Amino acid sequence: MMKIGVIKEQSGETRVSATPTTVKAIIDLGYQVIVESHAGELSTFPDSAYVQAGATLGNTSEAWSAQVVLKVAAPTVEEIAQLSDNAIIVSLMTPSLRPDLLESLATRGITALALDAVPRISRAQSMDVLSSMANIAGYRSVIEAAHEFGRFFTGQVTAAGKVPPAKVLVAGAGVAGLAAIGAASSLGAIVRATDPRPEVADQVKSIGGTYLAVEVAEKMESSDGYAKATSEDYDKRAAEIYSEQAADVDIIITTALIPGRLAPKLITAADVASMKSGSVIVDMAAAQGGNVEGSVAGQKVVTSNGVTIIGYTDLPGRLPAQASQLFGTNLVNLLKLVTPEKNGVLTLDFEDIVQRSVTVVKDGSITWPPPPVQVSAAPQAAKVEAPVAKEKKTMSPQRRGALFAFGIAMLFLICAFAPAPLPQHFLVLTLSVVIGFYVIGKVHHALHTPLMSVTNAISGIIVVGALLQLTVPNLAVQILAGIATTLASINIFGGFAVTRRMLNMFSKGGK
Ligand code: NAI
Repeated sequence: MMKIGVIKEQSGETRVSATPTTVKAIIDLGYQVIVESHAGELSTFPDSAYVQAGATLGNTSEAWSAQVVLKVAAPTVEEIAQLSDNAIIVSLMTPSLRPDLLESLATRGITALALDAVPRISRAQSMDVLSSMANIAGYRSVIEAAHEFGRFFTGQVTAAGKVPPAKVLVAGAGVAGLAAIGAASSLGAIVRATDPRPEVADQVKSIGGTYLAVEVAEKMESSDGYAKATSEDYDKRAAEIYSEQAADVDIIITTALIPGRLAPKLITAADVASMKSGSVIVDMAAAQGGNVEGSVAGQKVVTSNGVTIIGYTDLPGRLPAQASQLFGTNLVNLLKLVTPEKNGVLTLDFEDIVQRSVTVVKDGSITWPPPPVQVSAAPQAAKVEAPVAKEKKTMSPQRRGALFAFGIAMLFLICAFAPAPLPQHFLVLTLSVVIGFYVIGKVHHALHTPLMSVTNAISGIIVVGALLQLTVPNLAVQILAGIATTLASINIFGGFAVTRRMLNMFSKGGK
């Protein structure tokens, strides 16, 4: 059984890598947990809560001497020196930008798992700290902006006059951008968003924003869930949009990033100068060079024309309890993956793409970068369309005509020779097939499941037949009719209940 140490972070980091809830989950995986005293203090988790969850408390060197060490921020050189030989350390490491860190970790049989190297594939979503933190940061960026902005977000008509809603522009509709759009629109603002990936348009719309498309010939596709660099053409047209928008909106939140590069400059000094006094910009990419000219990483600056530019780089840490909970849960999910036997022994399987990707140092040697992971977050429209078009072409007009004639002939034969009630039923069936085909064909794919459940409910109308049979003076028939009534009623009420729940998921604020 391995011992896991939860480290108290250095000053400036408010989050903690495990909360009392996640400690319980780690213990359930068979590990022993030792938490450094005061580790959870800044995220409102007292030492006593960890003890209650089953952990033991220890001092700094006790926590660092565990076989597995959990941290939020990347370890410093001094911290690495405190690790035992052959220890495993799990934390954020930004391996692509920190070759120095990997060098220092590649010693004494140490293994390092970088939580920020989780590939963006669906199976690994539950471990993706970058997404969970970006989600929190996107929300917080709106709260920071609202705090600096001297007005309401929502429009109001009051006795004292009409208040127009605030206008918010979100540049980059990735994880952080979508969270910002959702938060700003739920506060009542008018929200617009840009992103070179056209497939985000629907997502933007579904959470209350308007997607501003940059119309150029080029099409953005993603093979790994992240964006690729934009073309000159695109940037030129986008710059015009940003200039138009800057003069109009009150708040700009920028989240544009292409991994492994400096953040693209989107908002120029001239755009900032054209904004109204009192406007606010949050540059979430400030740490990667910034999307906004004049933003300073980690700082808030106010321009001469009264525009506040926020470049905070610790946005998730400004909601420390929530951020630690999600970070800790991502970490537990990773531990579940590497502890398949639930026996408290961490074993790495390099055949598994997720485990291979997060392991940046193994037994003292650097294993970064991992082989590339090819996944597509984008619907591969072009690839899907091709075979469909081909299939349609295979039916020649002659063949179609022959099939049609055959159908008519069959219909005629059935109507002419079948016994009395059959032709009538058959016609009803044919008509319902035709009508059903066209009705369902026009319904959006996403609504097919609620549609199925509502038709299920309607089909429960058999209950009428069963009710009629209840009066037949025969006990067996009555029992059968009773059972039929019960089953059909479950079908009706269950169908409607399920439909309602599903439709609620599509409506804003639905549960
Ligand atoms: P993401 O990769 O999910 O989203 C980035 C989006 O930017 C993508 O949708 C991409 O298509 C878009 N983009 C790329 N080039 C663009 C361009 N020229 N114009 C407009 N959009 C463009 O990344 P995620 O997770 O949403 O993070 C966004 C940013 O927020 C990153 O810079 C990240 O480092 C930062 N971040 C900042 C935090 C803070 O405390 N300040 C905390 C968490 C994340």
